[in-house]
Amino acid sequence: MCGIVGYTGPRAAGPILIEGLRRLEYRGYDSAGIALVDEAGDLFVEKKAGKLANLTTAIADRTPHAAMGLAHTRWATHGRPNDLNAHPHVDCSGKITVIHNGIIENFRELRDGLEARGHRLDSETDTEALAHLIEEAYRGDLADAVRAALRRVEGAYAIVVMHRDELGRLVGARQDVPLVVGLNGEESFVASDVAAILAHTNRIVFLEEGDVVDVRPSGVVVTGVDGVVRERPETIHVPEIEPLLPAFREITRIELVACGTASYAALVGASALEAWTGLPARVTVGSEFRYSPPPLDGKTLVIAVTQSGETADTIAPTRLARERGCPIVAVTNTVGSAITREADAVLFLQAGPEIAVAASKTFVCQVTTLVVLAAAIGRLRGTLTEAAERELGAALRALPDAAAQAVEWNAPLARDLARRYVNSRGFMFVGRGSTYPAALEGALKLKEISYVHAEGYPAGELKHGPISLLDAECPLVAVATRSSTYDKLISNVMEGRARDARVIAVATVGDPQIERFADDVCWVPETHEAVAAALAINPLQLFAYHVAIARGTDVDQPRNLAKSVTVE
Ligand code: M6R
Repeated sequence: MCGIVGYTGPRAAGPILIEGLRRLEYRGYDSAGIALVDEAGDLFVEKKAGKLANLTTAIADRTPHAAMGLAHTRWATHGRPNDLNAHPHVDCSGKITVIHNGIIENFRELRDGLEARGHRLDSETDTEALAHLIEEAYRGDLADAVRAALRRVEGAYAIVVMHRDELGRLVGARQDVPLVVGLNGEESFVASDVAAILAHTNRIVFLEEGDVVDVRPSGVVVTGVDGVVRERPETIHVPEIEPLLPAFREITRIELVACGTASYAALVGASALEAWTGLPARVTVGSEFRYSPPPLDGKTLVIAVTQSGETADTIAPTRLARERGCPIVAVTNTVGSAITREADAVLFLQAGPEIAVAASKTFVCQVTTLVVLAAAIGRLRGTLTEAAERELGAALRALPDAAAQAVEWNAPLARDLARRYVNSRGFMFVGRGSTYPAALEGALKLKEISYVHAEGYPAGELKHGPISLLDAECPLVAVATRSSTYDKLISNVMEGRARDARVIAVATVGDPQIERFADDVCWVPETHEAVAAALAINPLQLFAYHVAIARGTDVDQPRNLAKSVTVE
């Protein structure tokens, strides 16, 4: 894992790149390096083994004013962590600089060929071969040269390249390693993840496998390595619900009905619906809805959420709503299930079969599907702004990479936390606003599969009663990812700490203060607040799993439960 960042635009690139590296240092700190090209086309390169501080000391007072540059923080794979092997790497002409995250698998063969053709390679890295391959392919157009070079490369990479004769132009590419582009009017950024550039822009383009991106200050063009342009529209389009457009124009309220995990995902959906449609939306668990139904008529949209599509407590109220003339949308994972026959439109989670009784991947897919549904209804009603749609589209595209990253960071930590906290008397899970549904679901997972008592609470409610449960034997699990209620949540966490509760926090990577308030921190990548629960749940699922393993319970088939509950 390495961190890479590039900048082109009217501002001084040096400080922007160093700040970007600071935010990427978690990805590796064996060495750091920077390359800058100034207005005269002069190239400045500095690289130092060790942490970023060594580089910043080395360049202090002598960083040229340059409007284009790239920088790298290294986690060594090929070659020792010394100055020579640090990135950026430069070709024989001294004009092309490359930074890279990943592994070029055929680098020995490439390197032998390059040396036989007269290139001199100074480092032990796989990356340096790339700089020379691009040099060989260069005919005055950097993007063409990068594409030609990449056609000869096998392996995984995220790269950023610049040529000192092509001022203002960076070329990036991605294969099996994340890379994002940030746009901000007259300036553009390239980085391993959004954390490095979020201070400057939230207009993000998430690159996909095989993308090559030609980056100028005014915008980007994405192609494949074959040079064919790849469009990156980020609109939300849900054809399944379009026939309901006339009904959506008339509705005045939205009722969501669900049970268990699905009802927690529905809470996320309700917030998104209110934000993007301007209509009141509320969640009622199925077993309450049926016998105390809210007012139902043709202007009430009912959304039934059920993984199995067979839950009796969800189907019966949906049938009732149908009888009262409500338009109905079902969100389910199961093709041909009972709920699909009660609905005017069906959205399938497409999560694949979920065998374990405890819902896990289907919670994530329920959250994302409901958020997409909310945005699509907002779009059809004309209440979702273009900016909000683009922002959400970008966040959804980034979510798979972010989730993979969260697993990588939290799998070993969750096992360790489970070992240390397994004998706790109980757990209090708290969140506020967008993080509250994840707290509810985290608590449900723990009690369901490990049989340890856990409560999910809105953090502000702690002081109204449940705080009396807190002590050194009852830890507080705070879902404290970046959100509009973060500061309030931290105050509530402090109230728990004052009662000796140990604190496990789920926090957004780069949060500078959470370690002051928490004993243990599970980091997750930055994401859009609307889908925060889909990412924050990741370490909590892993934690519940490892506590259950530590306690020797049956994780797949916990006692007293069934995957599909078809009785009232
Ligand atoms: O199939 P459904 O989504 O309708 O199931 C609803 C609940 O029974 C289910 O989510 C339950 O809470 C799970 N055991 C949670 O892990």
